[in-house]
Amino acid sequence: MKLHQSISLRNYNTFGIEIPGNIAEFYSEQDLLQFMEAQPDGPALILGGGSNILFRNVPQGWIWKNSIPGIQVVDRSDDFVLVEAGAGENWHSFVQYCIEQQWGGLENLSLIPGQVGASPMQNIGAYGVEIKDVFHSLRAVNLKSGVAREFSCEECAFGYRDSVFKNVFRNQYMITAVRFRLSRRNHVLHLDYGAIREELERVGNTEPDIRAVSEAVIRIRQSKLPDPKLLGNAGSFFKNPVVSKDLAESIKSRFPQLVSYGVDAQSVKLAAGWLIEQAGWKGYRQGDAGVHTKQALVLVNYGKASGDDIWQLSELIVRDVQEKFGVVLEREVNIC
Ligand code: EPU
Repeated sequence: MKLHQSISLRNYNTFGIEIPGNIAEFYSEQDLLQFMEAQPDGPALILGGGSNILFRNVPQGWIWKNSIPGIQVVDRSDDFVLVEAGAGENWHSFVQYCIEQQWGGLENLSLIPGQVGASPMQNIGAYGVEIKDVFHSLRAVNLKSGVAREFSCEECAFGYRDSVFKNVFRNQYMITAVRFRLSRRNHVLHLDYGAIREELERVGNTEPDIRAVSEAVIRIRQSKLPDPKLLGNAGSFFKNPVVSKDLAESIKSRFPQLVSYGVDAQSVKLAAGWLIEQAGWKGYRQGDAGVHTKQALVLVNYGKASGDDIWQLSELIVRDVQEKFGVVLEREVNIC
């Protein structure tokens, strides 16, 4: 365990927000249990890679940071492997490790920032795959009782950027390890997300494998999404809103190019990035808070923006999109 008192949190959040805080970093479940005894009030905040968080206020008390390492095979058959990763493992390094072993299932989720432990929190997803598609189970410690338990896929109640850990069990558990069921052979690649096929065609790859898909995803992400090491951001700031078919139709009558995806008989998902761009915000900058020039769903910190600067910009966008399209955008990033 490492304790970092009154330090800058700038390197602990990919938005690069400068704010002070205290961090207790755990490397094992034992570390966690030990710290729980000393700090029975619980965490001010649970932190993983800090890639989906916006600090608006100085966190009071200790931030509990999960750095539990380790990757191990728990079970394997001819067709599948069950692999477990410690919650503190870097997500992309873990994905790369699986690709090197030729295990299929995570390739579309390449280059997502953050840690393994945070991946089930919001059921991370990209390019047609969500972790729930390959998730097996996870282990988490109850922060009141100190008792560890397993959660199955069903018990996590995954939804679009959602799980029980974001609502009913918010701040009640610390995820310590996650298990994935990956393919060892006959893996079905998910190439249905348009941009992947286009990218593979562009490089002339007609028989892609796991690695080729991962490399295509990396190139697509690099072309649209800013590298947090170079420009502070937390990926998509808003969720893609799900609206009624009637509302989508009425918007479409005014904007025939509206980007939408069917959800069920009554509802449709809209591309928030498209709405924000149409409302004129793409590339907008106010002080050091801005809207990314290549992906309007991503808010960026050009250097010295405070959490509140980013928040205020997001408020302007929410209000404007609501006025123009009658759609209320919901934030995807956790605001603290
Ligand atoms: N679009 C615009 N203008 C923009 C951005 C997007 O017109 O500024 C349009 C695109 O042309 C496209 C559609 O909106 O027709 C969708 O865009 P894109 O494929 O870039 O994906 P997204 O819906 O904006 C979601 C996820 C991303 C994920 C991508 C790819 C959410 C909130 N975001 O973005 O996830 O990488 O799909 O699967 O669901 C994240 O969660 O942090 C994240 C980056």
